[in-house]
Order: sequence, then C-alpha cells, then structure tokens
Amino acid sequence: MIQIHTIEEWRDYAAQLRSAGQTVGLVPTMGALHEGHGSLVRRAVADGAVPIVTIFVNPRQFNDAQDLAAYPRDEAADLANCEAWGAAAVVTPSVHEMWPTSPATTATTVSVTGVTELFEGEGRPGHFDGVASVVTKLFAITGPARAYFGEKDFQQLAMVRRLNEDLSLGMTIVSCPIVRDEDGLALSSRNVQLDGEGRRVALGFSRALRAVADRPRTARDVRAVVRTALESSGIAVAYAEVVEPLLLDPIGNQHEGTARVLLAGVVQGVRLIDNGDVTIVSSEGE
Ligand code: PAF
Repeated sequence: MIQIHTIEEWRDYAAQLRSAGQTVGLVPTMGALHEGHGSLVRRAVADGAVPIVTIFVNPRQFNDAQDLAAYPRDEAADLANCEAWGAAAVVTPSVHEMWPTSPATTATTVSVTGVTELFEGEGRPGHFDGVASVVTKLFAITGPARAYFGEKDFQQLAMVRRLNEDLSLGMTIVSCPIVRDEDGLALSSRNVQLDGEGRRVALGFSRALRAVADRPRTARDVRAVVRTALESSGIAVAYAEVVEPLLLDPIGNQHEGTARVLLAGVVQGVRLIDNGDVTIVSSEGE
C-alpha cells in the first residue's frame, strides 16, 4: 500500500491504473476509520476494483468550528486498517493542498438542491455544499469507475447519486449497509466522543428502528413510535421522519411499500444519525 500526499501524485497514480486497464474504486473518508469503512474497502476489493482511500477532514462541510476541532483523528491506526482491508493507496492531503485559499471561502461551490434541503441540510447549514464540493474534487482528481459510500449517511448517499446523475459523471455509486456493534449501535467515527452512559443513551436509535421493523405500519405510527423510543432513551431529537428512499420526500398517507426512517439527535453534545428500512401500509381512510 502506498501513501500519497499531493494532488499531482494522486492524479498520476489513478491515471496509470486506468491506462493499465484497472478499475479504480474510490473510498472517500474523513479518517477515524472503523469496520464501516472497512466494509467499503473490502467491497471494492471484492468487486475487483483497486481501492484508493482518501482521508481528509474537510473543513468546508463543518458549520461548527467546535465540531471540526473535536473530530477524531488517528492517522497511524487508519493507515494500518487500510492496509489490512486491502487498500492499494491512501491519500492524505493537507487542507492547504485541497483548499489552497482556506480559510477564505473558495470561489467554486457545488450545490445539489432538492434531496439536501431537509434533515441534515436543515440542521447543518452549508454542510451538503461542503460535501458536494469536496466529493466533486475527489472524483475529478481520481477519475474512479466506482465510488463507495455507506448507507449510514443516507442523505449524503442520495445527494451523491443525484450529483453523479445530474453532472453525468458516469461512475457507479456503490452503497454498503450500515455496520453495527453487537449491541446495535451504528458504527460512527463520532462514537468515540461518547462515554459509557452516552453510548447507552445512543442505543435508543437502533432500539427505535427495531421497534418499527417488526411489521408493516402506517407512516403516522412509525413517526410516533420512533420519536417515543428516542425521547424515552434520553436523546434530544433533531428529526424522526419516514421518507421515500430515493428523493427522500416525507411520505404521505397514501404511500405503501418500502420506505426509510431517518433519525438524528444529540447525545452528550454529539450529533448522531441512524436510519433503517420500514414497510408502510396506507392510512388513507383511517
Ligand atoms: O462521509 C464522509 O466521511 C464525508 O462526508 C466524505 C464523503 C468523505 C466527504 O468529506
């Protein structure tokens, strides 16, 4: 496995792979890697792609300076994990390398409308513009045939799919299921910011999802059950909504079939998200 620091070296490396007929698989991350990221790298290997992992804590997607400062970083552990998972290269650019004019706002911002407006978009102004801008840059430098994203950040995944379609980037966006600890907590780089009590409270997310996954329910029922489960666990709820899985429109009373529950809340000052599938039955005429 090689480590790359500069855009020039990174662009050349990916171009060489492509001209040798290899399939380049991009795994964008912000480091503090865990088995969720591992599942993305392993999936790229299983697909026959050459996995390039990027580790870059992108300041432009943080709307809160404290959140950026508190974001966990452990480069030595990340590199060891990437090697074990089968990455071919890890790219660790500096902030100056990626955004030379930072902290001043760079001139070009990529903005995906629609799917980004509610949920994380509402709670974290500017967040999705920061993500869309950085992933567009990662795609432009790497030129991957495939890019790997986790379902944990379900709205981000929906946004990246839109970006790929709307700008005809021609990549295959591969989504991988959420990886959970044995107790049900969805793996997240932010979990290390919780103590034992915070972790116990955060289990309310997976408990809420399990509570509505048992049988088909009306959307109204799903909203009520998940909110009660979150609140009774001590989570300060940011949103608890049931949406159509591609465009993320909140679903109405006529919807039937598979939908996605999106949850967010704050535990010990840490904003956490989770999501899962539900089957919805119409409540029209109730
Ligand atoms: O999901 C993340 O870790 C980040 O939002 C991403 C996609 C690497 C962009 O910075």
